[in-house]
Amino acid sequence: MADDGGCSAEVVVVIREYNPKTDGERVEQVESNCEVGPNGELSLYTHLLGDPICRVRNSPAYLMLVAEMVINGGDATEIVGMIRGCIKTVTCGTKLSRNKFGETPKQLPVFTKLAYILGLRVSPVHRRMGIGLKLVRRMEQWFGDNGAEYSYIATDDANEPSVSLFTGKCGYTKFRNPAVLVHPVFAHQLSVSHRITIIKLAPSDAETIYRNRFSTTEFFPRDIDSILNNHLNLGTFLALPRGYIWTGSDKFLSDPPENWAVMSVWNCKDVFKLEVKGASKLRKGFAKTTRVMDRAFPFLRLPSLPKIFSPFGLHMLYGLGGSGPLYTRFAKSLFGFAHNLAKECKCGVIATEVSSEDPLKLAIPHWKVLSFTDLWCIKRLGEDYSDGSVGDWRKSQPGLSIFVDPREF
Ligand SMILES: CC(C)(COP(=O)(O)OP(=O)(O)OC[C@H]1O[C@@H](n2cnc3c(N)ncnc32)[C@H](O)[C@@H]1OP(=O)(O)O)[C@@H](O)C(=O)NCCC(=O)NCCS
Repeated sequence: MADDGGCSAEVVVVIREYNPKTDGERVEQVESNCEVGPNGELSLYTHLLGDPICRVRNSPAYLMLVAEMVINGGDATEIVGMIRGCIKTVTCGTKLSRNKFGETPKQLPVFTKLAYILGLRVSPVHRRMGIGLKLVRRMEQWFGDNGAEYSYIATDDANEPSVSLFTGKCGYTKFRNPAVLVHPVFAHQLSVSHRITIIKLAPSDAETIYRNRFSTTEFFPRDIDSILNNHLNLGTFLALPRGYIWTGSDKFLSDPPENWAVMSVWNCKDVFKLEVKGASKLRKGFAKTTRVMDRAFPFLRLPSLPKIFSPFGLHMLYGLGGSGPLYTRFAKSLFGFAHNLAKECKCGVIATEVSSEDPLKLAIPHWKVLSFTDLWCIKRLGEDYSDGSVGDWRKSQPGLSIFVDPREF
Protein backbone atom coordinates (compact mmCIF):
# COMPACT_ATOMS: atom_id res chain seq x y z
CA MET A 1 0.00 0.00 0.00
CA ALA A 2 1.26 3.51 -0.76
CA ASP A 3 -0.05 6.87 0.27
CA ASP A 4 -1.47 8.80 -2.68
CA GLY A 5 -2.31 12.38 -1.65
CA GLY A 6 -4.50 11.34 1.24
CA CYS A 7 -6.15 8.42 -0.64
CA SER A 8 -4.82 4.95 -0.21
CA ALA A 9 -3.53 3.48 -3.48
CA GLU A 10 -2.76 -0.20 -3.87
CA VAL A 11 0.52 -0.78 -5.64
CA VAL A 12 1.80 -4.16 -6.78
CA VAL A 13 4.89 -4.99 -8.76
CA VAL A 14 4.27 -7.57 -11.45
CA ILE A 15 7.10 -9.40 -13.20
CA ARG A 16 6.14 -10.39 -16.73
CA GLU A 17 7.64 -11.06 -20.14
CA TYR A 18 8.64 -8.03 -22.19
CA ASN A 19 6.14 -7.16 -24.92
CA PRO A 20 7.89 -5.39 -27.84
CA LYS A 21 4.59 -3.87 -29.05
CA THR A 22 3.70 -2.06 -25.84
CA ASP A 23 6.89 -1.83 -23.76
CA GLY A 24 9.64 -0.73 -26.15
CA GLU A 25 9.63 3.02 -25.53
CA ARG A 26 8.95 2.71 -21.80
CA VAL A 27 11.83 0.28 -21.35
CA GLU A 28 14.21 2.53 -23.26
CA GLN A 29 13.17 5.42 -21.02
CA VAL A 30 14.11 3.46 -17.88
CA GLU A 31 17.33 2.29 -19.53
CA SER A 32 18.45 5.81 -20.38
CA ASN A 33 17.90 6.89 -16.75
CA CYS A 34 20.04 4.09 -15.35
CA GLU A 35 23.78 4.37 -15.04
CA VAL A 36 25.80 1.22 -15.68
CA GLY A 37 28.44 0.58 -13.06
CA PRO A 38 29.37 2.67 -10.06
CA ASN A 39 27.82 6.10 -9.86
CA GLY A 40 30.85 8.36 -9.46
CA GLU A 41 31.74 11.72 -10.96
CA LEU A 42 31.51 10.16 -14.43
CA SER A 43 28.88 7.52 -15.24
CA LEU A 44 28.32 5.32 -18.25
CA TYR A 45 24.85 5.10 -19.86
CA THR A 46 23.51 2.80 -22.58
CA HIS A 47 21.26 3.77 -25.51
CA LEU A 48 19.47 0.86 -27.14
CA LEU A 49 18.70 1.91 -30.67
CA GLY A 50 14.98 1.11 -30.59
CA ASP A 51 15.37 -2.59 -29.75
CA PRO A 52 15.63 -3.28 -25.99
CA ILE A 53 16.07 -7.00 -26.57
CA CYS A 54 19.02 -6.52 -28.91
CA ARG A 55 21.69 -7.65 -26.44
CA VAL A 56 20.26 -11.15 -26.09
CA ARG A 57 18.45 -11.82 -29.36
CA ASN A 58 21.52 -13.41 -30.98
CA SER A 59 21.76 -16.13 -28.33
CA PRO A 60 20.29 -19.63 -28.83
CA ALA A 61 17.65 -19.09 -26.08
CA TYR A 62 16.76 -15.79 -24.47
CA LEU A 63 14.17 -13.98 -22.38
CA MET A 64 13.53 -10.44 -21.30
CA LEU A 65 11.37 -9.64 -18.27
CA VAL A 66 10.03 -6.32 -17.07
CA ALA A 67 8.90 -5.21 -13.63
CA GLU A 68 5.68 -3.28 -13.92
CA MET A 69 4.16 -1.23 -11.14
CA VAL A 70 0.39 -1.63 -11.25
CA ILE A 71 -1.60 0.97 -9.32
CA ASN A 72 -5.15 0.26 -8.11
CA GLY A 73 -5.54 -2.89 -10.16
CA GLY A 74 -4.56 -1.20 -13.42
CA ASP A 75 -5.62 2.49 -13.17
CA ALA A 76 -2.03 3.27 -13.99
CA THR A 77 1.03 1.19 -14.83
CA GLU A 78 4.68 2.04 -14.96
CA ILE A 79 7.68 -0.02 -16.06
CA VAL A 80 10.27 0.31 -13.31
CA GLY A 81 12.84 -2.37 -14.12
CA MET A 82 13.97 -5.05 -16.52
CA ILE A 83 16.34 -7.96 -16.90
CA ARG A 84 17.63 -9.98 -19.85
CA GLY A 85 18.88 -13.52 -19.80
CA CYS A 86 20.15 -16.08 -22.27
CA ILE A 87 21.29 -19.69 -22.28
CA LYS A 88 23.96 -21.38 -24.35
CA THR A 89 26.42 -24.27 -24.14
CA VAL A 90 30.04 -23.45 -23.30
CA THR A 91 33.28 -25.15 -22.32
CA CYS A 92 33.73 -25.39 -18.56
CA GLY A 93 36.83 -27.60 -18.48
CA THR A 94 38.72 -30.32 -20.27
CA LYS A 95 39.19 -34.09 -20.20
CA LEU A 96 41.64 -36.41 -21.94
CA SER A 97 40.46 -38.42 -24.93
CA ARG A 98 40.43 -42.23 -24.67
CA ASN A 99 42.78 -43.33 -27.42
CA LYS A 100 43.92 -46.58 -28.93
CA PHE A 101 47.13 -48.03 -27.50
CA GLY A 102 50.17 -45.94 -28.48
CA GLU A 103 48.20 -42.83 -29.47
CA THR A 104 48.74 -39.64 -27.48
CA PRO A 105 45.56 -38.57 -25.70
CA LYS A 106 44.15 -35.18 -26.65
CA GLN A 107 42.52 -32.51 -24.51
CA LEU A 108 38.78 -32.43 -25.20
CA PRO A 109 36.28 -29.81 -24.03
CA VAL A 110 33.72 -30.56 -21.35
CA PHE A 111 30.55 -28.57 -21.99
CA THR A 112 27.88 -27.21 -19.68
CA LYS A 113 24.61 -25.37 -20.25
CA LEU A 114 25.27 -21.86 -19.02
CA ALA A 115 22.85 -19.01 -18.43
CA TYR A 116 23.85 -15.37 -18.41
CA ILE A 117 22.09 -12.42 -16.79
CA LEU A 118 22.62 -9.02 -18.32
CA GLY A 119 20.98 -5.62 -18.55
CA LEU A 120 19.44 -5.69 -15.09
CA ARG A 121 18.10 -2.20 -14.39
CA VAL A 122 15.78 -0.70 -11.81
CA SER A 123 14.74 2.93 -12.20
CA PRO A 124 16.60 5.08 -9.64
CA VAL A 125 13.48 6.15 -7.71
CA HIS A 126 12.29 2.56 -7.27
CA ARG A 127 15.49 1.05 -5.90
CA ARG A 128 15.86 -0.80 -2.59
CA MET A 129 12.28 -2.05 -2.79
CA GLY A 130 13.17 -5.64 -3.68
CA ILE A 131 12.45 -5.25 -7.42
CA GLY A 132 15.96 -6.23 -8.60
CA LEU A 133 15.85 -9.37 -6.46
CA LYS A 134 12.40 -10.30 -7.81
CA LEU A 135 13.60 -9.94 -11.40
CA VAL A 136 16.67 -12.12 -10.77
CA ARG A 137 14.63 -14.86 -9.08
CA ARG A 138 12.10 -15.03 -11.92
CA MET A 139 14.86 -15.15 -14.51
CA GLU A 140 16.62 -17.96 -12.63
CA GLN A 141 13.37 -19.90 -12.59
CA TRP A 142 13.30 -19.71 -16.40
CA PHE A 143 16.98 -20.77 -16.54
CA GLY A 144 16.22 -23.82 -14.40
CA ASP A 145 13.12 -24.74 -16.42
CA ASN A 146 15.28 -24.69 -19.53
CA GLY A 147 18.01 -26.94 -18.20
CA ALA A 148 20.73 -24.41 -17.42
CA GLU A 149 23.29 -25.80 -14.97
CA TYR A 150 25.05 -22.57 -14.05
CA SER A 151 24.16 -18.90 -14.21
CA TYR A 152 26.66 -16.05 -14.30
CA ILE A 153 26.73 -12.28 -14.38
CA ALA A 154 29.39 -9.70 -15.19
CA THR A 155 29.58 -6.49 -13.25
CA ASP A 156 32.04 -3.84 -12.23
CA ASP A 157 33.83 -4.83 -9.02
CA ALA A 158 33.07 -1.38 -7.65
CA ASN A 159 29.31 -1.65 -8.36
CA GLU A 160 28.28 -2.26 -4.77
CA PRO A 161 24.49 -2.57 -5.32
CA SER A 162 25.02 -5.18 -8.02
CA VAL A 163 27.78 -7.14 -6.22
CA SER A 164 25.86 -7.27 -2.96
CA LEU A 165 22.61 -8.20 -4.71
CA PHE A 166 24.20 -11.18 -6.48
CA THR A 167 26.73 -12.38 -3.91
CA GLY A 168 24.76 -11.39 -0.81
CA LYS A 169 21.17 -12.19 -1.69
CA CYS A 170 21.23 -14.51 -4.72
CA GLY A 171 23.96 -17.04 -3.83
CA TYR A 172 26.53 -16.16 -6.52
CA THR A 173 30.26 -16.46 -5.85
CA LYS A 174 33.05 -14.34 -7.29
CA PHE A 175 34.58 -16.37 -10.12
CA ARG A 176 36.77 -14.59 -12.67
CA ASN A 177 38.24 -11.10 -13.04
CA PRO A 178 38.82 -10.46 -16.74
CA ALA A 179 40.16 -7.12 -17.87
CA VAL A 180 38.11 -4.94 -20.21
CA LEU A 181 40.67 -3.09 -22.31
CA VAL A 182 39.35 0.01 -24.05
CA HIS A 183 41.15 2.16 -26.59
CA PRO A 184 39.89 5.37 -28.18
CA VAL A 185 39.58 5.52 -31.94
CA PHE A 186 41.95 8.24 -33.04
CA ALA A 187 41.46 10.53 -36.02
CA HIS A 188 44.74 9.15 -37.45
CA GLN A 189 45.43 5.59 -38.57
CA LEU A 190 47.53 3.21 -36.49
CA SER A 191 50.39 1.57 -38.32
CA VAL A 192 50.52 -2.16 -38.98
CA SER A 193 53.91 -3.89 -39.25
CA HIS A 194 54.95 -4.31 -42.89
CA ARG A 195 56.42 -7.72 -41.96
CA ILE A 196 52.95 -9.04 -41.22
CA THR A 197 50.15 -9.84 -43.68
CA ILE A 198 46.55 -9.73 -42.51
CA ILE A 199 43.92 -11.80 -44.31
CA LYS A 200 40.17 -12.02 -43.79
CA LEU A 201 38.97 -15.59 -43.29
CA ALA A 202 35.80 -17.15 -44.67
CA PRO A 203 33.47 -17.96 -41.72
CA SER A 204 33.96 -21.71 -42.36
CA ASP A 205 37.78 -21.36 -42.12
CA ALA A 206 37.40 -19.22 -39.00
CA GLU A 207 35.16 -21.87 -37.44
CA THR A 208 37.66 -24.64 -38.22
CA ILE A 209 40.51 -22.69 -36.63
CA TYR A 210 38.49 -21.69 -33.57
CA ARG A 211 37.14 -25.19 -32.95
CA ASN A 212 40.57 -26.75 -33.44
CA ARG A 213 42.54 -24.28 -31.31
CA PHE A 214 40.07 -22.72 -28.87
CA SER A 215 37.37 -25.27 -28.03
CA THR A 216 39.08 -26.15 -24.74
CA THR A 217 39.24 -22.50 -23.67
CA GLU A 218 36.90 -21.72 -20.79
CA PHE A 219 33.57 -20.17 -21.92
CA PHE A 220 34.11 -21.23 -25.57
CA PRO A 221 30.58 -21.23 -27.07
CA ARG A 222 29.61 -24.47 -28.78
CA ASP A 223 27.56 -22.47 -31.32
CA ILE A 224 30.62 -20.50 -32.47
CA ASP A 225 29.42 -20.96 -36.07
CA SER A 226 26.29 -18.89 -35.41
CA ILE A 227 28.45 -16.09 -33.98
CA LEU A 228 30.81 -16.13 -36.96
CA ASN A 229 27.92 -16.13 -39.43
CA ASN A 230 25.98 -13.38 -37.66
CA HIS A 231 25.53 -10.11 -39.57
CA LEU A 232 27.13 -8.26 -36.62
CA ASN A 233 30.37 -10.18 -37.10
CA LEU A 234 32.52 -7.95 -39.28
CA GLY A 235 35.03 -10.71 -39.92
CA THR A 236 37.77 -12.91 -38.57
CA PHE A 237 41.30 -11.81 -39.40
CA LEU A 238 44.50 -13.80 -39.38
CA ALA A 239 47.94 -12.18 -39.01
CA LEU A 240 50.63 -14.18 -40.80
CA PRO A 241 54.31 -13.63 -41.55
CA ARG A 242 54.67 -11.72 -44.78
CA GLY A 243 55.08 -14.13 -47.69
CA TYR A 244 53.05 -16.96 -46.14
CA ILE A 245 50.71 -18.38 -48.75
CA TRP A 246 47.25 -19.17 -47.44
CA THR A 247 45.75 -22.33 -48.89
CA GLY A 248 42.92 -23.00 -46.45
CA SER A 249 42.41 -23.74 -42.77
CA ASP A 250 43.20 -27.49 -42.92
CA LYS A 251 46.60 -26.90 -44.47
CA PHE A 252 47.20 -24.01 -42.06
CA LEU A 253 46.42 -26.15 -38.99
CA SER A 254 48.55 -29.07 -40.11
CA ASP A 255 51.55 -26.87 -40.92
CA PRO A 256 51.17 -23.41 -39.30
CA PRO A 257 53.85 -20.71 -39.53
CA GLU A 258 55.99 -20.19 -36.43
CA ASN A 259 54.06 -17.04 -35.44
CA TRP A 260 50.47 -16.14 -36.10
CA ALA A 261 47.47 -14.51 -34.43
CA VAL A 262 43.74 -14.49 -35.01
CA MET A 263 41.00 -12.02 -34.01
CA SER A 264 37.35 -11.38 -34.83
CA VAL A 265 35.49 -8.07 -34.82
CA TRP A 266 31.90 -7.65 -33.60
CA ASN A 267 29.87 -4.59 -34.49
CA CYS A 268 28.29 -3.46 -31.19
CA LYS A 269 27.72 -0.04 -32.78
CA ASP A 270 24.57 -1.26 -34.54
CA VAL A 271 23.20 -2.75 -31.30
CA PHE A 272 23.72 -0.07 -28.67
CA LYS A 273 25.52 3.19 -28.04
CA LEU A 274 27.26 4.34 -24.90
CA GLU A 275 27.56 7.79 -23.38
CA VAL A 276 29.73 9.14 -20.57
CA LYS A 277 27.78 11.63 -18.49
CA GLY A 278 28.87 13.98 -15.74
CA ALA A 279 32.02 15.45 -17.33
CA SER A 280 32.88 19.06 -16.55
CA LYS A 281 32.96 21.68 -19.33
CA LEU A 282 36.73 21.84 -18.90
CA ARG A 283 37.14 18.10 -19.49
CA LYS A 284 34.84 18.20 -22.53
CA GLY A 285 36.73 21.20 -23.92
CA PHE A 286 40.06 19.44 -23.50
CA ALA A 287 38.77 16.31 -25.26
CA LYS A 288 37.47 18.40 -28.16
CA THR A 289 40.81 20.18 -28.53
CA THR A 290 42.69 16.86 -28.79
CA ARG A 291 40.24 15.73 -31.51
CA VAL A 292 40.52 18.91 -33.52
CA MET A 293 44.32 18.77 -33.39
CA ASP A 294 44.45 15.07 -34.35
CA ARG A 295 42.07 15.62 -37.28
CA ALA A 296 44.01 18.65 -38.52
CA PHE A 297 47.46 17.05 -38.21
CA PRO A 298 47.02 13.24 -38.54
CA PHE A 299 50.70 12.80 -39.49
CA LEU A 300 51.65 13.92 -35.95
CA ARG A 301 49.81 10.84 -34.59
CA LEU A 302 48.52 12.71 -31.55
CA PRO A 303 46.52 10.60 -29.11
CA SER A 304 43.04 12.10 -29.10
CA LEU A 305 39.80 11.48 -27.23
CA PRO A 306 36.72 10.72 -29.37
CA LYS A 307 33.22 12.10 -28.68
CA ILE A 308 32.46 9.98 -25.63
CA PHE A 309 30.34 12.67 -23.96
CA SER A 310 27.57 12.13 -26.50
CA PRO A 311 26.33 8.70 -27.70
CA PHE A 312 29.12 6.72 -29.38
CA GLY A 313 29.47 3.25 -30.85
CA LEU A 314 32.10 0.58 -30.43
CA HIS A 315 33.58 -2.50 -32.00
CA MET A 316 34.43 -5.45 -29.81
CA LEU A 317 37.48 -7.57 -30.58
CA TYR A 318 37.04 -11.18 -29.52
CA GLY A 319 38.52 -14.62 -30.15
CA LEU A 320 42.04 -13.20 -29.90
CA GLY A 321 44.69 -15.87 -29.81
CA GLY A 322 47.60 -17.38 -31.66
CA SER A 323 50.91 -19.05 -31.29
CA GLY A 324 54.68 -18.50 -31.43
CA PRO A 325 57.30 -16.45 -29.61
CA LEU A 326 56.22 -13.29 -31.48
CA TYR A 327 52.52 -14.00 -31.11
CA THR A 328 51.73 -10.86 -29.06
CA ARG A 329 53.43 -8.73 -31.73
CA PHE A 330 51.15 -10.31 -34.34
CA ALA A 331 48.16 -9.68 -32.08
CA LYS A 332 49.21 -6.03 -31.81
CA SER A 333 49.18 -5.74 -35.59
CA LEU A 334 45.66 -7.14 -35.64
CA PHE A 335 44.76 -4.56 -33.04
CA GLY A 336 46.10 -1.73 -35.26
CA PHE A 337 44.13 -3.14 -38.19
CA ALA A 338 40.96 -3.29 -36.06
CA HIS A 339 41.50 0.29 -34.91
CA ASN A 340 41.62 1.48 -38.51
CA LEU A 341 38.47 -0.49 -39.35
CA ALA A 342 36.70 1.12 -36.36
CA LYS A 343 37.85 4.54 -37.58
CA GLU A 344 36.29 3.86 -41.01
CA CYS A 345 33.06 2.82 -39.27
CA LYS A 346 33.10 5.99 -37.12
CA CYS A 347 33.29 4.20 -33.78
CA GLY A 348 34.27 6.05 -30.62
CA VAL A 349 36.25 3.20 -29.04
CA ILE A 350 37.36 -0.38 -29.56
CA ALA A 351 37.26 -2.79 -26.69
CA THR A 352 38.37 -6.29 -25.88
CA GLU A 353 38.11 -8.49 -22.80
CA VAL A 354 40.82 -10.90 -21.75
CA SER A 355 41.49 -13.16 -18.79
CA SER A 356 43.43 -11.60 -15.91
CA GLU A 357 46.18 -14.19 -16.58
CA ASP A 358 46.39 -13.60 -20.35
CA PRO A 359 49.73 -12.24 -21.69
CA LEU A 360 47.61 -10.15 -24.08
CA LYS A 361 46.50 -8.05 -21.12
CA LEU A 362 49.87 -6.29 -21.25
CA ALA A 363 50.35 -6.46 -25.01
CA ILE A 364 47.05 -4.99 -26.24
CA PRO A 365 47.16 -1.18 -26.33
CA HIS A 366 44.52 0.43 -24.13
CA TRP A 367 43.88 3.51 -22.05
CA LYS A 368 43.83 2.82 -18.32
CA VAL A 369 41.39 5.64 -17.74
CA LEU A 370 38.81 3.96 -20.03
CA SER A 371 39.58 0.35 -19.06
CA PHE A 372 38.43 -1.57 -16.01
CA THR A 373 38.38 -4.94 -14.30
CA ASP A 374 35.20 -6.92 -14.75
CA LEU A 375 33.88 -9.22 -12.04
CA TRP A 376 32.16 -12.42 -13.15
CA CYS A 377 30.05 -14.12 -10.50
CA ILE A 378 28.65 -17.62 -10.90
CA LYS A 379 25.96 -19.80 -9.33
CA ARG A 380 25.19 -23.48 -9.64
CA LEU A 381 21.50 -23.81 -10.39
CA GLY A 382 20.63 -27.43 -9.68
CA GLU A 383 21.97 -30.82 -8.79
CA ASP A 384 22.27 -32.88 -12.00
CA TYR A 385 25.35 -31.90 -13.94
CA SER A 386 27.07 -32.75 -17.20
CA ASP A 387 30.41 -31.28 -16.09
CA GLY A 388 31.44 -34.75 -14.76
CA SER A 389 35.23 -34.78 -14.84
CA VAL A 390 35.39 -31.05 -14.08
CA GLY A 391 33.52 -31.41 -10.81
CA ASP A 392 32.20 -28.17 -9.43
CA TRP A 393 33.14 -25.56 -12.02
CA ARG A 394 32.87 -22.79 -9.44
CA LYS A 395 35.91 -24.21 -7.66
CA SER A 396 38.15 -24.61 -10.73
CA GLN A 397 41.29 -22.53 -11.21
CA PRO A 398 41.24 -19.91 -13.99
CA GLY A 399 43.08 -20.82 -17.18
CA LEU A 400 45.42 -18.57 -19.15
CA SER A 401 42.55 -17.38 -21.34
CA ILE A 402 38.81 -17.15 -21.55
CA PHE A 403 36.61 -16.90 -24.61
CA VAL A 404 34.45 -13.81 -24.28
CA ASP A 405 31.22 -14.12 -26.24
CA PRO A 406 30.72 -10.86 -28.18
CA ARG A 407 26.92 -11.26 -28.04
CA GLU A 408 27.10 -10.63 -24.32
CA PHE A 409 29.46 -7.68 -24.25
C1 LIG B 1 21.65 -3.21 -9.03
C2 LIG B 1 20.18 -2.83 -9.07
C3 LIG B 1 19.51 -3.53 -10.22
C4 LIG B 1 19.53 -3.29 -7.75
O1 LIG B 1 18.12 -3.13 -7.85
P1 LIG B 1 17.18 -2.89 -6.58
O2 LIG B 1 15.79 -3.11 -7.00
O3 LIG B 1 17.51 -1.62 -5.93
O4 LIG B 1 17.65 -4.09 -5.63
P2 LIG B 1 16.80 -4.72 -4.45
O5 LIG B 1 15.96 -3.70 -3.80
O6 LIG B 1 16.11 -5.94 -4.95
O7 LIG B 1 17.96 -5.14 -3.45
C5 LIG B 1 18.20 -6.47 -3.09
C6 LIG B 1 19.50 -6.51 -2.31
O8 LIG B 1 20.60 -6.07 -3.11
C7 LIG B 1 21.53 -5.35 -2.29
N1 LIG B 1 21.55 -3.91 -2.68
C8 LIG B 1 20.75 -3.31 -3.57
N2 LIG B 1 21.09 -1.99 -3.67
C9 LIG B 1 22.13 -1.80 -2.84
C10 LIG B 1 22.92 -0.66 -2.53
N3 LIG B 1 22.69 0.54 -3.08
N4 LIG B 1 23.95 -0.82 -1.64
C11 LIG B 1 24.20 -2.02 -1.07
N5 LIG B 1 23.45 -3.14 -1.32
C12 LIG B 1 22.43 -3.03 -2.21
C13 LIG B 1 21.02 -5.48 -0.89
O9 LIG B 1 21.53 -6.67 -0.33
C14 LIG B 1 19.52 -5.59 -1.11
O10 LIG B 1 18.85 -6.21 -0.05
P3 LIG B 1 18.30 -5.29 1.17
O11 LIG B 1 17.60 -4.13 0.58
O12 LIG B 1 17.41 -6.24 1.92
O13 LIG B 1 19.52 -4.88 1.94
C15 LIG B 1 19.98 -1.28 -9.19
O14 LIG B 1 20.76 -0.64 -8.22
C16 LIG B 1 20.34 -0.72 -10.56
O15 LIG B 1 19.50 -0.71 -11.48
N6 LIG B 1 21.61 -0.24 -10.73
C17 LIG B 1 22.04 0.35 -11.99
C18 LIG B 1 22.27 -0.70 -13.08
C19 LIG B 1 23.23 -1.77 -12.64
O16 LIG B 1 24.28 -1.51 -12.08
N7 LIG B 1 22.84 -3.02 -12.92
C20 LIG B 1 23.59 -4.19 -12.56
C21 LIG B 1 24.46 -4.63 -13.66
S1 LIG B 1 24.77 -6.36 -13.49
